[in-house]
Amino acid sequence: MSEKYLLGIDLGTSGTKTVLFAQNGAAVASATVEYPMSQPRNGWAEQAPEDWWNAAVATLSRVIRDSGVDPEAIVGLGISGQMHGLVMLAENGEVLRPSIIWCDQRTGEECAEITALIGAGRLIEITANPALTGFTAGKIRWVQKHEPDVYARCRHILLPKDYLRYKLTGDFATEVSDASGMQLLDVPNRRWSAEVLDKLGINPDYLGKVYESPEVTGHIHAEAAALTGLSEKTLVVGGAGDNAAAAVGTGVVADGRAFTTIGTSGVVFAHTDQLAIDPLGRVHTFCCAVPGAWHVMGVTQAAGLSLKWFRDTFCHAEIDAAAAMDIDPYDLMNREAALSPIGANRLFYLPYLMGERTPHLDPDCRGVFFGLSAMHRKRDLIRAVMEGVSYSLKDCLNVLGEMGVTPAQMLATGGGGRSELWRQMLADVFGCPVCTTQSKEGPALGVAILAGVGTGLYPSVREACDRMIHTGVTQEPVAANQPAYAACYDQYRQLYPALKDAFKRLAQ
Ligand code: XUL
Repeated sequence: MSEKYLLGIDLGTSGTKTVLFAQNGAAVASATVEYPMSQPRNGWAEQAPEDWWNAAVATLSRVIRDSGVDPEAIVGLGISGQMHGLVMLAENGEVLRPSIIWCDQRTGEECAEITALIGAGRLIEITANPALTGFTAGKIRWVQKHEPDVYARCRHILLPKDYLRYKLTGDFATEVSDASGMQLLDVPNRRWSAEVLDKLGINPDYLGKVYESPEVTGHIHAEAAALTGLSEKTLVVGGAGDNAAAAVGTGVVADGRAFTTIGTSGVVFAHTDQLAIDPLGRVHTFCCAVPGAWHVMGVTQAAGLSLKWFRDTFCHAEIDAAAAMDIDPYDLMNREAALSPIGANRLFYLPYLMGERTPHLDPDCRGVFFGLSAMHRKRDLIRAVMEGVSYSLKDCLNVLGEMGVTPAQMLATGGGGRSELWRQMLADVFGCPVCTTQSKEGPALGVAILAGVGTGLYPSVREACDRMIHTGVTQEPVAANQPAYAACYDQYRQLYPALKDAFKRLAQ
């Protein structure tokens, strides 16, 4: 039998990455195209869907060309992407406004209205989550209220990755994992909630058909094939939101397994075969990409984003030096951070650049360096950023622990997960081994695996993971480091309550 190939697209916040995989999970070719995020106001965040599509076309064309693989041998394609973003299209498919993306925090008022309309308890019963500023329903309501002319022309509401699906196949469709983050899905029953749609005045016809993540939703249409070099025979499966996709790509597809991502956002994610909901709503419960199962996850809004912001604002010397040495600027920043001791010489960083979800659910809080002294050097600031993000992820892990989810081992993924220093910090702060997978392509591999299942190459997601995922290095917690981190974490936890009211005043 001739070799078959699978494609995974990951529509991230900083860029879109497309990877072509062989059937055994080995990456054959990969391409990334970056694009900007615009912040028209403090707390707002938007991107252009056209940028996503251009990046998808460019990366798909490049991997097909670079790999030399016959497009007809690419049997399946999966799409993963940033969750929650709102894409609105007119009847003819025209994009009506920039996408309001996941980290946008403008919808505090709309979320209060949604809670009042549906009832706090009922909302959690149906959507498994309280009304949250990052989720799509609040963004739809914001457009209904503030841009009624735009809403009047809207005929299709899509998530970011489902916009790519529409452009590739012509189908308006989504799947359960990403749809869970819209606040419109009946999460226990895995279908749109007629009750929520009715109370929010959203026409159900505007939403795509909901599939399970490995199901085939369509095939590449002629126009997209001509633009990208893909074959019209390639089947497209549901795919998954970036976190559910990363779970598949790291083999977190059964009870007891968990991973941490440090991408733009940070996530602590655990699989659960039984529906589990935090009554305080501090962590999300979503359908996962394994049909019939769910996951719980805590989110740090600005994880990798914090270090990227620091790099772009303060590390021009590192960026230039890294270019001359042909290495990544983050490698130089890691080396600097390693020269600062645990606790960064008594400097703390709160990663609330875009408000915070777990555990505070506060769109108004903002980033803080606490304890700055004239003795601090850049290395201390970089270390403080990495430690602050690690403490915030520990906050996520603690809430999962309160729900009885206590993973024995943690996989690390995302750009930040590639830093050995950051992984050691996580192992020491979490107090459990942190390991990696051999593939760096978490979400892209995850959706390629789903495509392998949907096209019949593998019988189930779990079996496909067993065949396509290979574990990498493991870092054990260092006992001598743990008391120092524990003392710092204790101090870190006291900072948000002390500043909470000041953040509210700042927002006003
Ligand atoms: C998850 C979330 C982020 C985005 C962007 O709820 O908002 O992880 O998916 O990566």
